[in-house]
Amino acid sequence: MTAKQATDHNLSRIRVGLAERSYPIYIGRQLFEQLSQLLPKLPKQICIITNATVAAHYLEPVLASLGGEHTFLIHEIEDGEHAKSLASYGAIMDALIAHSFNRDCAIIALGGGVVGDLAGFVAATFQRGVDLYQFPTTLLAQVDSSVGGKTAVNHPGGKNLIGAFYQPQTVVISTDCLSTLEPRDYASGLAEVIKYGIIYDADFFAWLEANKAKLNARDSKALSYAIQCSCQIKADIVAQDEREQGLRALLNLGHTFGHAIEAELYEDWRHGEAVAAGTMIAAEYMRQQGELDAAAVTRIETLLKTFALPIRAPKLAETRWQELMYRDKKVQAGALRLVLPTAIGNAELRTVTDWPSVWSAIEAMTETSQ
Ligand SMILES: NC(=O)c1ccc[n+]([C@@H]2O[C@H](COP(=O)([O-])OP(=O)(O)OC[C@H]3O[C@@H](n4cnc5c(N)ncnc54)[C@H](O)[C@@H]3O)[C@@H](O)[C@H]2O)c1
Ligand SMILES: [Zn+2]
Repeated sequence: MTAKQATDHNLSRIRVGLAERSYPIYIGRQLFEQLSQLLPKLPKQICIITNATVAAHYLEPVLASLGGEHTFLIHEIEDGEHAKSLASYGAIMDALIAHSFNRDCAIIALGGGVVGDLAGFVAATFQRGVDLYQFPTTLLAQVDSSVGGKTAVNHPGGKNLIGAFYQPQTVVISTDCLSTLEPRDYASGLAEVIKYGIIYDADFFAWLEANKAKLNARDSKALSYAIQCSCQIKADIVAQDEREQGLRALLNLGHTFGHAIEAELYEDWRHGEAVAAGTMIAAEYMRQQGELDAAAVTRIETLLKTFALPIRAPKLAETRWQELMYRDKKVQAGALRLVLPTAIGNAELRTVTDWPSVWSAIEAMTETSQ
């Protein structure tokens, strides 16, 4: 892109630094209308994985701006978490093979985290790996799932149990996509944005507090800034710890609790909603341990509440919580490992063996039936 075009469309570029696997994230408005300039070197064969909801809004501009030089295979999956499955994966593989797609093809993920995770796993494994381009269309996918190379499908035994680390070639974030998102999906993405502030950047958290009205109104400048900060933090963390040996685990703040909620109430809770309730439990746990100020817990709760995110967990039996939480991938030698905030802007991964103290925080943060 020329400097002029860049100013016209407020284009910003963040680099994920991973040596020979480094890649750019482009963030700007109407980027789906400018793909041939942004991505001049796409191969002839392109498979676009999407769903009908997203395709209705964005497939046409994407196809038009990629140009007529390509052979397109458009594969629509069903809408919903259930489509992140081995069955969908198999159907895409069948289509790629039936259409004689070769090792030089590219896979484009056009959609939210479900499409992105599935398409990423397809790209990681088709012909032992082909080029992947992420075009995330939900806020959650723009600030989190499209960056960092975690790809997966679910198994009846649990979420994301089958997958690979596989980095994309480029991530293209067209921020105007967010105008068509359902309110709950928009809020769900904001939960991950808030997460970055809590684990890594107190100034960003304070900025979110100061700009909550603009964010609630989906103000394009505020959103663009929030997406840039979030992607920059994720890029910094992934560059230091691609395979989650340490630092990257912090991105799981609230997730051990959240995954338990999601596993139990699958299609009822959005990922970000479960993370929001889980973040409150993690904060409350630290408050009860005397390691986090009550004022910090209140700030987190207030910000989550502003975006209509749930701040209390659903009522589940203690034994069920325990069973679900000990399935977490971070469990080591039978002990929970939880991401716990020590202040706004800082979190630590801790081994926790004292279940009653965890249960006490869960109970305190469970919705009371009225
Ligand atoms: N790979 C990672 O690092 C990572 C990180 C976080 C979450 N995830 C995964 O992401 C998934 C959740 O992603 P999600 O919240 O984006 O859900 P999603 O992909 O199901 O999208 C939510 C809904 O929004 C619709 N949609 C998408 N873009 C739209 C648009 N621009 N306008 C209108 N509707 C639109 C979708 O069709 C869907 O109905 C989960 O499977 C989770 O495990 C992965
Ligand atoms: Zn998440």
